[in-house]
Amino acid sequence: MVCLGNICRSPLAESIVRSKLEKKIPDLEVDSAGTGSWHVGQPPDYRAIIVAAKYGLDISGLKGRQFNVSDFKKFDLILAMDESNLKDLSKLATSGEDILKLHLYLDFAEHPSLREVPDPYYGDQRDFEKVFKLLDIAADRVANKMLKEKQP
Ligand code: 4NP
Repeated sequence: MVCLGNICRSPLAESIVRSKLEKKIPDLEVDSAGTGSWHVGQPPDYRAIIVAAKYGLDISGLKGRQFNVSDFKKFDLILAMDESNLKDLSKLATSGEDILKLHLYLDFAEHPSLREVPDPYYGDQRDFEKVFKLLDIAADRVANKMLKEKQP
């Protein structure tokens, strides 16, 4: 799960998707990263921590990290929150195989009308609430697709 700062959208997406799959696919590794480096080592934005806690998820221990080219080898699927993140990730890809792993989170979730998860950083708590709900609804589809891919 990749966004710009790795403190708002992608840590929420990481924890929501993990919460839906950790019992069904115990060996699944779900992680998140930012394309930028400003928040490396920092906890998620306090507004993301608050909204996650409201829905039963503790993201307070997560630490920001920057996407690394080695993540293309490490992960089977790389889901970007918006077009700008996707463009930045595409520039880091070094093979067709890398490119095939890249998708917009909401495209992968086959969202009927939206392609981008809006950045709530310059918004308020209500924007974080909207983002949480959008990520959560789409995460059911993301989780089901991952489950299908895992089946023999
Ligand atoms: P995120 O939100 O990409 O969803 O984590 C942002 C966090 C920080 C900044 C921008 C967006 N920033 O400019 O520092």
